[in-house]
Amino acid sequence: MKALILSGGKGTRLRPLTYTGAKQLVPVANKPILWYGIEEMVAAGITDIGIIISPETGAEVQAKTGDGERFGAKITYILQEEPAGLAHAVKVALPFLENSPFLMYLGDNLIQQGDLSYFLQKFTNQQQEALILLRQVPNPSAFGVAKVDDSGRVLQLIEKPKNPPSNLALVGVYFFSPVIHHAIANIKPSARGELEITDAIQYLIDEEKEVAACQLEGWWLDTGKKDDLLEANRLILDTYLTSSIIGDVDAQTNVSGRVQIGKQSQLVNCTVRGPVVIGNNCYLENCFIGPYTSIADNTTLIDADLEHSVVLEGAKVAGIQQRIIDSLIGQRAQLTIAPRRPKALRFMIGDDSQIELT
Ligand code: DAU
Repeated sequence: MKALILSGGKGTRLRPLTYTGAKQLVPVANKPILWYGIEEMVAAGITDIGIIISPETGAEVQAKTGDGERFGAKITYILQEEPAGLAHAVKVALPFLENSPFLMYLGDNLIQQGDLSYFLQKFTNQQQEALILLRQVPNPSAFGVAKVDDSGRVLQLIEKPKNPPSNLALVGVYFFSPVIHHAIANIKPSARGELEITDAIQYLIDEEKEVAACQLEGWWLDTGKKDDLLEANRLILDTYLTSSIIGDVDAQTNVSGRVQIGKQSQLVNCTVRGPVVIGNNCYLENCFIGPYTSIADNTTLIDADLEHSVVLEGAKVAGIQQRIIDSLIGQRAQLTIAPRRPKALRFMIGDDSQIELT
């Protein structure tokens, strides 16, 4: 059994963060989203992993993730020249996949720990051509949607339908036998110009191949947008964070709940209410850091009040009078109070940024 992680694509929905980096590397609880998938695969016993990368962000994904040794896996990087669709990515990966059954995992998806092993076992025991995972969602039009009969058999799959036939979305985790390559060879690009994996699975259904569907009970997040990312951050901190304070915390600082503080970080006169993770080499002074906040390495926070937020590497927040909530602050971004008059707001805001002032 091999695994194929799709970490190419354009990442338009997480702009402006994805102008400068891969969306799959955006951290959740200070760890790149992509790494959760890799760790889950290794835990399920799959160690031969191919990662689809794009020309724009491939080098960064490769440099950060490495050859797999740190995960106990062997990683092969596969360049997809253009984001021509999920099924196109499988086509490009054929020399890696060869004749092996495989798990296909969308690199911006997160599923609850342990679920992968369970479904892998189901797939290998029952020898299907494809096993897909479904989850009820309130907004099915944003996903691939399945129509199933009363016995749970999949009748039809439609990619991002305007009038969804059900509220069952396709989760970005699929198990395939090599028969999928034959299906991909027989489909045409969709209206949006992509070779859709949804159409390839529909081809298998039309050919009366064994396509099984399971409903995912655990949580699942497609981290495509800011609020999804904050929700993923909340869930991961809530579920997995354990306390560990390595950095320097002064006597005036009050830490409660589950909190991680990394090495060479310094907290002066702060209140931290977990679950909170603070990376390495951070400096925090006179701050309140509320629940569900992740602060990446090398950040500086002074006179800041922050909650349910994600701060990326090298950012600086200082002197902001109001509490910052539900926010995503990008790498090296600076949010400070101007020392000079006239008292006014001064911005240099990147393309596609979103700022809400009161
Ligand atoms: O998240 C689940 C959904 O993922 C499913 O419900 C849909 O059926 C499926 O088509 C997919 O939809 P998205 O619109 O979310 O796909 P997205 O374009 O975001 O791509 C998913 C991942 O695959 C992402 O990590 C980028 C990568 N990718 C995407 C394309 C189009 C590639 O590596 N190559 C590609 O050509």
